[in-house]
Amino acid sequence: MCGIVGVVSSENCQHQVLEGLKKLQYRGYDSAGICLKMGGELVAFKAKGSVEDLEKKCPENMEAALAVGHTRWATHGSVCEKNAHPIFSANKHWAVVHNGIIENFPQLQYDLAKEGVCFKTETDTEVISALLALDNFKDPIQNLIWACGRLKGSYAICAVQQSDQNQILVAKKKSPLYIFSSGSESMVASDPVCFPEDQYYRLEDDEFASVSQTGVIFYNKNGKRIVKETQGAITKQSQISKGVFKHFMLKEIYETPDGLNALSESFANFDFSKMRKWWIGKVKLIGCGTAYHACLMGARYFKKHLGLDAEAVTASEFRYDKVILDTSTLCIFVSQSGETADTIAAAQKALKHTKKIVALTNVSYSTLSSMTPHVLSICAGPEIAVASTKAYSCQVAALYLLVMALKGEKELKNALKNVKKTSKLLEKFYVNLGRFAEDISACQHVFFIGRGSDYITALEGALKLKEISYINCNAFPAGELKHGVLTLIDHSTPVIVIATEKQTSDKTMNSAFEAKARGGKLYLISSQMPNAASLDKFEMCLTLPQTCPDLECLLATLPLQLLAYNVAVMRGNDPDKPRNLAKSVTVE
Ligand code: G6P
Repeated sequence: MCGIVGVVSSENCQHQVLEGLKKLQYRGYDSAGICLKMGGELVAFKAKGSVEDLEKKCPENMEAALAVGHTRWATHGSVCEKNAHPIFSANKHWAVVHNGIIENFPQLQYDLAKEGVCFKTETDTEVISALLALDNFKDPIQNLIWACGRLKGSYAICAVQQSDQNQILVAKKKSPLYIFSSGSESMVASDPVCFPEDQYYRLEDDEFASVSQTGVIFYNKNGKRIVKETQGAITKQSQISKGVFKHFMLKEIYETPDGLNALSESFANFDFSKMRKWWIGKVKLIGCGTAYHACLMGARYFKKHLGLDAEAVTASEFRYDKVILDTSTLCIFVSQSGETADTIAAAQKALKHTKKIVALTNVSYSTLSSMTPHVLSICAGPEIAVASTKAYSCQVAALYLLVMALKGEKELKNALKNVKKTSKLLEKFYVNLGRFAEDISACQHVFFIGRGSDYITALEGALKLKEISYINCNAFPAGELKHGVLTLIDHSTPVIVIATEKQTSDKTMNSAFEAKARGGKLYLISSQMPNAASLDKFEMCLTLPQTCPDLECLLATLPLQLLAYNVAVMRGNDPDKPRNLAKSVTVE
């Protein structure tokens, strides 16, 4: 899973590719590489680390006629220069950058080895350059179409050949790929944010193209030329900066109220009349990671306000599990990027059974948005930091508003007021974490507990902290502590207690005191101060402002996000780019 950029232009291709790759690092940042075509020859530079590390290794102003680059999130083969793309064929005639996974690469390697091909990397990608190097056809695009016919899995490919022709050959299946052409320069990229203008072509599965400086020729899988229309309108990420903030994550936490306000405006103007006519038997909410946690919260809203049988499922389970769906099932897919491979595959599965499908995404041009009949934007604005913060809050609020909108016009109006009120509280909510972050940064394990919606907040708090601090964090329903977890509690174990729900907070406190009795150190996040008698049981009590019960989870989430951020910084980690992760997971 990776980001790719290719440029054919008379100007400085190298610079354009490097700048494009910097915008794609949300797709992976463990190594990077660039291939330049100079006087018919292919020259490559590679670096372990970020695109900025690669930039330092590239000589300036190489006069290349074309360049293709890659930022990697390793799937096959360790993180090292050898496995960084471009991946050359053994005869050096072809170089390939690839996003995706070739699932049948062991078989292809075996077959090609029998024909004498010697593999130099540990990547699945090398079979692509090896197949191309067989040069079965005179026409290079026919070679690519033939090679792709032998591949199973997912791919967005840019291939270049040592020859006089300055063209990038591209292919796509399941991984996104976009093409821009102005007549004097052309670009290929995993995300149109790399393009200078917002009119571009979106390549569909099994489509191919040859991209040269003056234009693009598209082909179908039979090698026939096809005509494609451009599309447009993207958020220009080029203008996005950290502003006065040290990291994107911190900036994005502070942008939550803006996102909630934009969301309210968008829902206030959305026409829900069609959806209100739906007969809904049951509801499935599907997502991955943080988006899955938003789904868990959404399922609670559907049950509570509409009395519907609602269930949240992780997309990676949904796609392979026996899920019973029919035309009355409402499926809601939640994804910040709209590009998560598991979520897309799950949506493809659902589309075979029901048309009542809604995508909640933050990216209007994403694959998920383009394939689902109903799309609602979460309006969070671009999110750059890998750990999702404002997008989570907007996803939760969007699900709440959707449920209330399905209930009726009046209910939506009230709900919009509640979101506005919560947004105002978030704007003014000054969280003094005090010693909290310092204590946690010195720990090896942290437990989070809560009941009901507080348990979901605990899950998200634990995920946030583990993602960027690398501390082992686990969340449990408070009542489950006594069924196993208590065995792990000793005098050094912090237990973060979330207790905003009135009907369960006493019970949660009891569970917390059971942990305290075994030596656990308690940190409380609650809408009320505990009574004076139990105050000294806590290392710290953080009291949240009051809002409507459905949205208290957003207020409890804010200090947990700030905690994760502060702990990561204290431990010397980059909160925006945690090790081994990526923002957009476009492989299975
Ligand atoms: C990755 C990110 C997470 C995100 C998840 C789902 O794992 O690191 O922060 O929650 O993908 O992403 P999506 O774009 O589908 O919401």
